[in-house]
Parts: sequence; C-alpha cells; structure tokens
Amino acid sequence: MAYRSIAEEEKVAAMSALSLGFGIPAKARELSKRVDTEQLRVVEVDGQFASVLRLSRMPQYWLGRAVPSGQVLSLATSLEHRAAGHGLALLEGMLAELHEAGIPTVTLQPSTARFYRKAGFEFAGAWNLYEVKCEHLPALDGAYQARRLPADDLDPIMKLYEQIAPGRHGAFARQEWWWRAALRRPHPSEDAEPVSLLLEGSDGPVGWAMLAFGSDPGNQPFGLRVRIQDWGWLPGHDLAALGALAGYRTMDSVVNWSGPDPDPFLFLLPNESIRLTRRRYWMLRLVDLPGAFGARPYPPGAAGRVVLRVSDPLCPWNSGTWALEIADGQGRLERVSGAPARSETAGTASIQGLAALFTGFAGPDELARAGLLDAADPAALEVLRAAFASPKPFTAELY
Ligand SMILES: CC(C)(COP(=O)(O)OP(=O)(O)OC[C@H]1O[C@@H](n2cnc3c(N)ncnc32)[C@H](O)[C@@H]1OP(=O)(O)O)[C@@H](O)C(=O)NCCC(=O)NCCS
Repeated sequence: MAYRSIAEEEKVAAMSALSLGFGIPAKARELSKRVDTEQLRVVEVDGQFASVLRLSRMPQYWLGRAVPSGQVLSLATSLEHRAAGHGLALLEGMLAELHEAGIPTVTLQPSTARFYRKAGFEFAGAWNLYEVKCEHLPALDGAYQARRLPADDLDPIMKLYEQIAPGRHGAFARQEWWWRAALRRPHPSEDAEPVSLLLEGSDGPVGWAMLAFGSDPGNQPFGLRVRIQDWGWLPGHDLAALGALAGYRTMDSVVNWSGPDPDPFLFLLPNESIRLTRRRYWMLRLVDLPGAFGARPYPPGAAGRVVLRVSDPLCPWNSGTWALEIADGQGRLERVSGAPARSETAGTASIQGLAALFTGFAGPDELARAGLLDAADPAALEVLRAAFASPKPFTAELY
C-alpha cells in the first residue's frame, strides 16, 4: 500500500477511481478537466488506485490572522476496494505530508463523521444557508450604484475580499483558482452564466454579489430564486448589499445566501424575516498541536497556563503532556517533560476535542459534557473559556 501524488498521465485513472467512489463513473472525464493534477493524492494497491483525495492548501483566518491550512475537497475509495482500510491510510499519508510541510490544520465537509473521527477530525465550524423573501428587502439607497462586471473580471472583487475576509472567523484566504473554479459554478437548475455585481459608494467599491438565477417551482406565478453564490461588503454597507436585490420584490422572489450565525440581517431587518434553511458542519483536524495553537491569536484579556495530556496514535508527534500558555493575545504550546509542577493538575483532551476548541466552535464546558476534554481544575477551565471565546467559526463556501 503506498500513498503518493500522481503524474499527469495518471490523472484520468485517478479521477475514474474517485468518480466511481462517488457513484458518478460517467463524469470522470469531465471532472478531470476541472481538477489540477497536483491536488490529487492516491493510495495504490497492486497497481490500482484504491482511494483518491483532492487536497488544496488555503490559509484560514482565525480572529483576523491567516494560518496555513489544508482542505480535503473530495475523498473516495473505489467501489471494489472499500472497507479494507485504504481510506484511512490515505488520510494518514496526507497528515504526514501536511506535517512535513508545516501546515498545522486541515478541514473538510464530511459525509460521514465516524470515518473522519477515526482519523482525528471533529466538527469545528459551520456553513449556514439563509433565505429571505424579496418583499422584505429595503430599497437600495440612492447613494449607491450597482455595476455589472464582465464575467472574467474578478479583480475588484478579490481586492475587496482581502479587506473583508480577516473579519470572518474561519474564512479562507482564497486563491484565484478557487474564485474561478468553486465560486462561479452554477447549480444544474440555474442559468449557466452567473452575474457579478459591484456595489459602489461615493469613494469607490464597497461590496459585491455573485448571483445565480434559477426558478422556484413552489413559488408561482413568477417563481424566481436568486442564489447569492458569494458576496461581501465593507462595514456599514450591509443593507445596501441586500437592497441591490430589492427590485425583485415585484416577482414573488426569494434570495438565498450563506452567512454567519447569527447573521447580521437578523438585527438589521425590521422582523424575523430571514430563515435558516440549511446548515452543514465542517470538520477540522489538528495536524500539529504546537504549530496550530502557536499560530492563532487569542483575545487580549485571556491569560494563564493549562496542562493537558493528549494521545494521538495516528499523528504520534502530537501525543504527550503539553502546557498551553496564553498571554498578550499570543499562545504557546510546549511539551512538559517529567511530571507537571505540583501546583498544576494535568487535564486530558482528545485530539478531536481540541479541534473543536481550537476554532472556538465549542467551549471547554460543552466538550467536557461530550467527554472530549477534562480541564481537571476550575482555574484551568476558566483560562480555556477566556482563551477560546470567539465568534462562531463559519465558511461562506460549502466545499
Ligand atoms: C467513506 C469511504 C471514503 C470510506 O473508505 P474506506 O476505504 O472504505 O474506509 P476504511 O476501510 O479505511 O475505513 C476506516 C474506518 O472507517 C469506518 N467507515 C468507513 N466508512 C464508513 C461509513 N460510511 N460510515 C461509518 N463508518 C465508516 C470503517 O468501518 C473503518 O472503521 P473500522 O476499522 O472500525 O471498521 C468510502 O466508503 C467511500 O468512498 N464512500 C463514498 C464516497 C464518500 O462518501 N466519500 C466521503 C466524502 S466526504
């Protein structure tokens, strides 16, 4: 069994195994055209690709700071190779590769939590889909202008995103291929060509919206559904972003978007008119404990030291007793050799529980109730509560 990347001439075979794994064998060639060979990793058994995954590397923002991270964009074991440990071996190979490259975290959208938990992943953030009827939207303020961008002109949008993303806890530091490949793909029921709008105020661009137009058969006679594939705006321009779509009020239309929880529109619209229609939780794996906890910032007021014992058989470099020191907005995780000082009680944490703590998705109290963390003493619990307090982590993308 061998974990490796592949050569260009092996791509079609790898994509065939991946597509069969997902039950869409006929799509292998079409998908091959969209996928970068460098992102593919395989486990090879007797000359065949048993399990295949697609890995990207985009940093993620935690409390405003970008930390290197990997993303498993897809993973499957080919039909004839299932339940033989190849999927897990593939993840194990990937974790060793990321560790070697100094990338301390990796995330994914799971279809099975049990399988990924075996590899040390845990739920650590969310993707939330909201809906509002256009009749509830405020009209666009005359101080703004909405300008359509040519389909391939992403520059002004990418510039705005760089300003906005650090304020989204969990957001990707997106790369250009991601904008072109993932963010502009319409659903099968939508018009093929998405529309990009730039929202301009008196001093230049303040926001954008990438729109996909589809129909909503349950919502006749017009039944328009506008899905915001992606959007963002500078602080203070929220209602303008929604207002750009207010003209569809006449058509019995609905708008969907993904956003944080709670979404700011809950506070900005006069009634509880937005509805959460779907939520998917994503998972995170801590590849390297000191790398991860040392790289993200912490709330400036949090301070203290917590000693935790961790066992991580899949990534043995994470196993051991660790002291987490938090001061002045920074954190440091160091090995404790020998027994902890007499005044300190060592708690225990599972590698999965630490993943949910790292992003602020769950606090130490919830994790203790789930049996994933035991801070051992009330003072340590207090330090962890303060250190990992944050907005709820979310990604705008379902990836
Ligand atoms: C999920 C999938 C990748 C697992 O691959 P695999 O090579 O068969 O998995 P492994 O043999 O390495 O299994 C490792 C462990 O996970 C468990 N596991 C695997 N698939 C599981 C599932 N769907 N539900 C629950 N547990 C699962 C196995 O039982 C095994 O645990 P065990 O050692 O206690 O028996 C494979 O079934 C698949 O390709 N499914 C369709 C595509 C898909 O869902 N991919 C994931 C997209 S996010």
